[in-house]
Amino acid sequence: MAETILVTGSTGFIGARMLDYLAKEGSKIRVFLRHESSCGALPEGVEVIRGSFSDPGPLALAVSGVDRIVHLAGVTKALDDAGYEAGNVMPVQNLLDAVTLHNPDLKRFLFVSSLTAAGPASEGISGVSESDVPHPVSAYGRSKLRAETLCLERSADIPVTIVRPPAVYGPGDRDVLQVFQMLAKGVLVTPGSAVRQRFSMIYVDDLVSGIMMAARSDKAAGRVYYVTSLRSYSWDEIIAASQPLLGFKKLHRVSLPDPLVFLVGSVLGSAGLLFGKPALISRDKANELVQDYWVCSAEQARLDFSFTAVTALAEGIAKTISWYHRKGWL
Ligand SMILES: NC(=O)c1ccc[n+]([C@@H]2O[C@H](COP(=O)([O-])OP(=O)(O)OC[C@H]3O[C@@H](n4cnc5c(N)ncnc54)[C@H](OP(=O)(O)O)[C@@H]3O)[C@@H](O)[C@H]2O)c1
Repeated sequence: MAETILVTGSTGFIGARMLDYLAKEGSKIRVFLRHESSCGALPEGVEVIRGSFSDPGPLALAVSGVDRIVHLAGVTKALDDAGYEAGNVMPVQNLLDAVTLHNPDLKRFLFVSSLTAAGPASEGISGVSESDVPHPVSAYGRSKLRAETLCLERSADIPVTIVRPPAVYGPGDRDVLQVFQMLAKGVLVTPGSAVRQRFSMIYVDDLVSGIMMAARSDKAAGRVYYVTSLRSYSWDEIIAASQPLLGFKKLHRVSLPDPLVFLVGSVLGSAGLLFGKPALISRDKANELVQDYWVCSAEQARLDFSFTAVTALAEGIAKTISWYHRKGWL
């Protein structure tokens, strides 16, 4: 019989692709939508529970009777620590409480965390592994790590698995889009050292299948994984993969020195506080932007549940840029 999967954050970039994946494989899907969520077209047959992560009633309805939960909802930008707590920590706490009370037979609670919970690597080839001690450098990363700790503290009673994606790109993403928008104009402004920087990256559909492999692996219960590309990439490789699709002839590259990144972050962050809207770059986000190596190892996920990212960078970037062109985003 088809499993029922509860997905939170289903209106987001990764959530929308998750629903497509689950619909294609024939799972029964339930989504938890916040009152303020704007719900576009959902795959046929999706059951919708509306509520707030702070309201036990709708959470009880959402978790009851499902086989697995994929918790994607969260915030990557907030005005302050309280905003990250409300977006990333409180929902996990309350979902876990709801599971204990209303679904003691849940097969898996899969929490989508972030590489930022672990912090950057000290070198750019092998990257951080799951056994390294976390050292997040931003409020976002610290909030994800707090939520991870809540999950692991409950792992004797609830089968939890944590997936930490690195940078995710693909159709529907608005963050990496900004890099392609610059490249399309023949410009690339990067914070920190563009020569040293390397990134693990994952194409969104690879991530979605990796998340579900982790959510269904017996070995993965009670554990943390990176679901990531086989290797890290440099800016030069990202530029080379984008060039055939974007067609720029010459590229003007500007690397912003760290003090300037922090200055811009302080100014934009203060403006964000003034207007009550999180800025794209804040003083805190600058700590993430200037790091050299946001790199993690794909090895443990391969060993424990045979996950390998199948989409090569050039193929993933081509699919992503074609989608942006079709949608008029580029
Ligand atoms: N994109 C990346 O590169 C990346 C990398 C690493 C980790 N992640 C993590 O993956 C998850 C999904 O990321 P995404 O890129 O799909 O993000 P996204 O497009 O911003 O979607 C996140 C979803 O979270 C829900 N949400 C928004 N504000 C919220 C709040 N204040 N409290 C609780 N839920 C809220 C919304 O879903 P509803 O409206 O349906 O409630 C929203 O669609 C996040 O937890 C993120 O931290 C993303």
